[in-house]
Amino acid sequence: MRRIAVMTSGGDAPGMNAAVRAVVRTAIQSNVEVYGIRQAYAGLLAGDFERLTSREVSGIIQRGGTILQTARNEEFKTPQGQKRALRALNEHGIEGVIVIGGDGSLRGALALQKLGVPVIGVPASIDNDIWGTDMAIGVDTALNTILDALDRLRDTASSHNRGFIIEVMGRNCGYLALMGGILGGAEIVIIPEHEVSMQEVAQALEDAYLRGKNHAIAVISEGVSYKATDLANFLNQHPVGFEIRLTILGHTQRGGSPTAFDRLLATRMGVEAVQRLLRGETGLMIARSGRDQVALPIEEVTSKTREISKDYLDLAYILSR
Ligand code: ADP
Ligand code: F6P
Repeated sequence: MRRIAVMTSGGDAPGMNAAVRAVVRTAIQSNVEVYGIRQAYAGLLAGDFERLTSREVSGIIQRGGTILQTARNEEFKTPQGQKRALRALNEHGIEGVIVIGGDGSLRGALALQKLGVPVIGVPASIDNDIWGTDMAIGVDTALNTILDALDRLRDTASSHNRGFIIEVMGRNCGYLALMGGILGGAEIVIIPEHEVSMQEVAQALEDAYLRGKNHAIAVISEGVSYKATDLANFLNQHPVGFEIRLTILGHTQRGGSPTAFDRLLATRMGVEAVQRLLRGETGLMIARSGRDQVALPIEEVTSKTREISKDYLDLAYILSR
């Protein structure tokens, strides 16, 4: 292989830049040229490629977001769109592609592989909803951002005897909410995989009030069937002792400098992805398993749903009493 391309796709995640840097520097070591595809599959269709040398990726390991930018693109999901993408890759003499992104982006990678393009995927999404890898790039940083916010909100909550509802991201996956709740000391966690009713939330907050606490925290995942605003209204209509406030953390969870964990994870995965691509492997996603880096078929990864750990659900329950 003489020339490969790399893209970052889906929601940006802290550590994507560290992964791009690792990809570029590993390829250069093997005398392989690297092109960056700007704005993911949208840029692939538009032929928006830029040559990346070691210099373009210098000084980015600590930067959040993605220097290649990202996008969501519906056209690439169609057979016509995919043909245009294949043509753009051929026009630029690209012989292999590394896709850094979430579950949807990996489905796109699978589509490319089915067209005969050698592809390796690297899991990156703050949601941690990708099957097969213990952690995706960006999760650790987002979780630390959530904990920082929870700690701050508890300061103000306990000063005013208030209850806080805090909504966190995760799409349909409750990982960030569950871990944020356990590590941030929440009274109750509400996640799509294990929903509790608004009455149960009210009960948990009231129990905390009756135990004499001067604050209470409920962490709710955005994927739950009822909205955080509905829960806040419900709690205002069914008083639990605490005055209630609602904070939606939103996109603050996506930004920021990657933690040491995410920099290392992204760097190791980026290196491994290039090494495997250059060895002729394709259709695989790099995954973290314990302390090891492994590779799993993208087809398998995208056909399965990551489940929430029962151990962590139990921890959340035990520690909130
Ligand atoms: P994430 O990768 O973070 O899960 P999305 O689900 O939005 O983000 O997917 C990112 C992009 O991947 C989509 O906008 C689309 O261009 C591409 N994609 C998603 N699903 C498919 C699919 N089934 N086939 C081809 N491309 C897809
Ligand atoms: O997949 C990452 C994520 O931040 C999800 O947690 C969230 O549901 C979604 O992306 C938000 O997407 P957008 O940036 O398009 O608002």
